Amino acid sequence: MTQYKVGYLVGSLSKNSINRTLSKALLAVAPSTLEFTEIPIRDLPLYNYDFDADYPPEGRAFKEAVLGSDAILYVSPEYNRSIPGALKNAIDWGSRPWGENAFARKPSAIIGASIGGIGTAVMQANLRSVLAFLDSPQLNAPEAYIRFQPEVFGQDGEVHDETTKQFLTTFMTEFEAFIERVLAAAPGHIGQEPDTDHHNENH
Ligand code: FNR
Repeated sequence: MTQYKVGYLVGSLSKNSINRTLSKALLAVAPSTLEFTEIPIRDLPLYNYDFDADYPPEGRAFKEAVLGSDAILYVSPEYNRSIPGALKNAIDWGSRPWGENAFARKPSAIIGASIGGIGTAVMQANLRSVLAFLDSPQLNAPEAYIRFQPEVFGQDGEVHDETTKQFLTTFMTEFEAFIERVLAAAPGHIGQEPDTDHHNENH
């Protein structure tokens, strides 16, 4: 069976991140055809377009990690009803310079945990519009809004509730099938963008 390289981004920099805990659970239940590598976002400077002429090593490493992945998984909290700044900054790094957007045509999936009842739904809606602009095909179903309960998630990826475990397994199985469909439809285009000659550079 085909193996796929999945780069995953954890949208929280906290040492006690519940989303990092969730990421471990996801890796534990994922199909064996998916190989995971975390793409770190912690050390990226704040992006501005002055860097476009000469990306620093952190920006370069981030872009190369995205380009080297077959698909991207976002596991992120919601901050003030939106995308945490560190994650948005990382996405901005990967999207530039204009015409060299690393996310283009890269299959993606979004999941997030919060301590509140809406389970990062508003962050996910925001992130979906960013990924749509970046031309990254997204897994649309199932949606995955996780209300984090400490008794359900162990520190090393264990999931102590069978319904939750089954849901996370289905989510990762559907993501694998989605990656397969997207890559089968456009195998030659992954990591590349269409001709951008007719676009305004400042879009
Ligand atoms: C939050 N939290 C939060 N939760 C939520 O459901 N919706 C929100 O809009 C916010 N906003 C928010 C802003 C900021 C600045 C912080 C620090 C927190 C609470 C959040 O769900 C909780 O802190 C989680 O533990 C964050 O996930 P990580 O960082 O533990 O993975």
